[in-house]
Amino acid sequence: MTTDTLFRETGALLAEFGIALSDGDLPVGSPIDGSRIAAVQRHDRADLDRMTAAAERAFIAWRSVPPPRRGELVRLFAEELRHHKQALGRLVSIEAGKILEEGQGEVQEMIDICDFAVGLSRQLYGRVIASERPGHRMLETWHPLGPVGIITAFNFPVAVWSWNAAIALVCGDTLLWKPSDKTPLCALACNALFARAIDRFGGASEDLRRGLSQVAIGGPELGRALAADRRVPLVSATGSTRMGGTVAPVVAQRLGRTILELGGNNGMIVTQSADLDLAVRAILFAAVGTAGQRCTSLRRLFVHDSIADTLLARLQRAYAQVRIGDPLEPGTLVGPLIGEHAFAAMQQALAEARAEGAEVFGGERVLAERWPQAYYVRPALALMPAQSALVQRETFAPVLYVMRYRDLADAIATHNAVPQGLASSIFTTDLREAELFTAAEGSDCGIVNVNIGPSGAEIGGAFGGEKETGGGREAGSDSWKAYMRRMTTTINYSRDLPLSQGIRFAVDAS
Ligand code: UN1
Repeated sequence: MTTDTLFRETGALLAEFGIALSDGDLPVGSPIDGSRIAAVQRHDRADLDRMTAAAERAFIAWRSVPPPRRGELVRLFAEELRHHKQALGRLVSIEAGKILEEGQGEVQEMIDICDFAVGLSRQLYGRVIASERPGHRMLETWHPLGPVGIITAFNFPVAVWSWNAAIALVCGDTLLWKPSDKTPLCALACNALFARAIDRFGGASEDLRRGLSQVAIGGPELGRALAADRRVPLVSATGSTRMGGTVAPVVAQRLGRTILELGGNNGMIVTQSADLDLAVRAILFAAVGTAGQRCTSLRRLFVHDSIADTLLARLQRAYAQVRIGDPLEPGTLVGPLIGEHAFAAMQQALAEARAEGAEVFGGERVLAERWPQAYYVRPALALMPAQSALVQRETFAPVLYVMRYRDLADAIATHNAVPQGLASSIFTTDLREAELFTAAEGSDCGIVNVNIGPSGAEIGGAFGGEKETGGGREAGSDSWKAYMRRMTTTINYSRDLPLSQGIRFAVDAS
């Protein structure tokens, strides 16, 4: 493949979405070969200010549209996604470097959350609550919140936005999306498809067209401006713990709301009773898939001493067979890292691991002659003597730290002894072990799986994690509640005015 091929293909894909880019000041590269595939126009704070005002205006109109009708727009959007799944998935592969299969998978995840949101649009249930006062009724109602700021990372350049967008839309909110400045094209493509859905929706006012969903392109300064804006009651941010640490205090300062989905350092325990065939396949997908660049990627493996040699030998064989290369070529399982910075962080981690006495397999750069501007690596296995400070930090690359254990309670304690708390899993066929891992004294993560790896969650469950992962929940279950404001109402239909707690408070005013 030549540089020109990717440039031209990107142009053709964008044309399919109806996007014609004139030159801009933000160059966009493909991690596949490091070449420039487009340039887009960066937005500044004044642009963002105008967008936020438009989002506010659109909110005034959108909040009064009945939720099932809002769901209809999301349904139409899902139709666009179904229709353009291949093209959008391919753009994800070109811009983020994922293999085709995973690029398509991301779009499927968007379709799934849209379908979920359409159903939800008829199920935004409140409660009726027993009042302590005679002749009174209490109820809880959920109302739209306002413009929602959505900050997303390069590694899931379309799906993570859609988890927020589909739910926020049926909840009656408007969208201000700041995508990673590494993947602006995917964001523009999603918004172009969304605009088509609005066209087909019919009857949308100019305010709605302009302000229902907008994309602000820029770096961290734009994210900070979004976080600081009082007109944005909720900021949902996905990315590194460092990013969350800068966004969250700014939102907190103005007492706004956040949904944070930050770093993970996901572990798996493989017990004596585990089905090793399943375990090997799960480890491979979770540790090596997406070149180790999922927030849910498997980074720490705890193996029972009695099976460690067998499992490691099998893993090494499996790792040796993984095909690394052009993510657009069928059969490739590992594409490039997002860039040089990720490569340097990985090499640094491996050097530290070696210095700590680890035995390291893989990890070296490959295909550098073919693509000197791109960073392909062989996924690494690092047999660690202990869970050192290095293992406790998230390195966003395909490095799997392997540790042996003897006692399950100890392994769970070590598993939990990291600052992050996103995803975890256990491989076991022993009911007691499985139940212990999912019990209160088990894994402390937001996602706790049995005989499934930590990555690749379905949208139906609430997605997110504890501790430094940020505590937020996106996607399914009742995550929608974070996108709405809760109203508690007490109605007195009696001819008296009893006060709660039996308080008597009256003067003779007759
Ligand atoms: C992320 O990496 O930010 O569970 C999201 C998974 C995917 C989403 C990952 N459904 O791996």
